[in-house]
Amino acid sequence: MQITSLDGPDAMEFADVAAPVAGSDQVLIKVHAAGASFPQLLQTRGLYHVKPPLPYAPGCEVAGEIVSAPKGSRFAPGDRVAALPMIGKIPMIGGFAELAVATADMTFALPKEISFVEAASLPLNYLTAYFALIERGGMAPGESVLVQGAAGGIGTASIQIAKAFGASRVIAVTSTPEKGAAAIAAGADKYVLVDGFSGAVKELGSVDIVVDPVGGNRLTDSLRTLKEGGRLLVVGFTSGEIPTVQVNRLLLNNISVVGVGFVPERHRHLQAEWEAIMPHVRSGTLKPVIGATYALNDAAVALREIDQRRAVGKIVLTV
Ligand SMILES: NC(=O)c1ccc[n+]([C@@H]2O[C@H](COP(=O)([O-])OP(=O)(O)OC[C@H]3O[C@@H](n4cnc5c(N)ncnc54)[C@H](OP(=O)(O)O)[C@@H]3O)[C@@H](O)[C@H]2O)c1
Repeated sequence: MQITSLDGPDAMEFADVAAPVAGSDQVLIKVHAAGASFPQLLQTRGLYHVKPPLPYAPGCEVAGEIVSAPKGSRFAPGDRVAALPMIGKIPMIGGFAELAVATADMTFALPKEISFVEAASLPLNYLTAYFALIERGGMAPGESVLVQGAAGGIGTASIQIAKAFGASRVIAVTSTPEKGAAAIAAGADKYVLVDGFSGAVKELGSVDIVVDPVGGNRLTDSLRTLKEGGRLLVVGFTSGEIPTVQVNRLLLNNISVVGVGFVPERHRHLQAEWEAIMPHVRSGTLKPVIGATYALNDAAVALREIDQRRAVGKIVLTV
């Protein structure tokens, strides 16, 4: 499924293209499921910071079976894996396809308990939520967490990671009661609606950490919900607006605003992050919320669902 022009999801084309060839340090994967998420939507419009030359298949995460692997790697043909694929030297693309390549350090062994559809939901959102809350946010057991955009992909993953790693309380912020119910089903303790959320959160009690994949004009209110020493984790900008921080708010309460970026250095953390979440995946504590599945050639429908703010949990393409 290829982006051939930057005219949005409907301009993607389902095409027969040459199979990717794995480099000497890469595995070749027969894709069974591919995660669809906000970055691919942005890429169909050329609005994401990764801008590969056209045409290319988007898709930053897959689950499937190893077709071939370099000698001496941890993988062998037939192994079930999840991966963050790449095309050429550009990481995090190439997943909306029947075959994908990935380096061994971006490929993860799958436990038998997890389906390909669930597995395709893990690498981007769950590893990011872990990196955000535990590594960047330094979340300690017993701390409380507020999650913006809580019914979405990053949102549901953040709720579950926070709970799995000992958060005392997770409050979800959503735009509708239906999405609030979805956040509760994902594991949140309470939900509040976006309108007037900071007042509602203060009544419930201020929080130690805010996970913010939304940005926009709710940032200042998010800062108001933090306790002394609180941290706001900047994960993304689904509102379409990059907010400005009034730094006096940080000084007044010893608050930190912390960036959560997928920088090249992070590649070295990925396997350790995967190992950290796997016991919770095996036990079922981390259970991806699958909002919908679509066939690969319906990728445009899947991305439109995200575009129109209708997606709940993770949208997955089956191949
Ligand atoms: N930093 C990283 O490493 C990293 C990794 C992965 C993803 N991200 C970013 O994280 C963000 C969230 O991704 P996601 O996959 O969780 O997206 P998603 O599943 O679509 O969820 C995003 C949520 O944002 C809220 N939202 C508020 N205004 C919106 C608008 N105008 N349009 C659409 N949604 C809006 C919606 O919740 P309500 O309707 O309840 O408000 C929605 O559920 C994206 O910006 C993505 O690029 C960053």
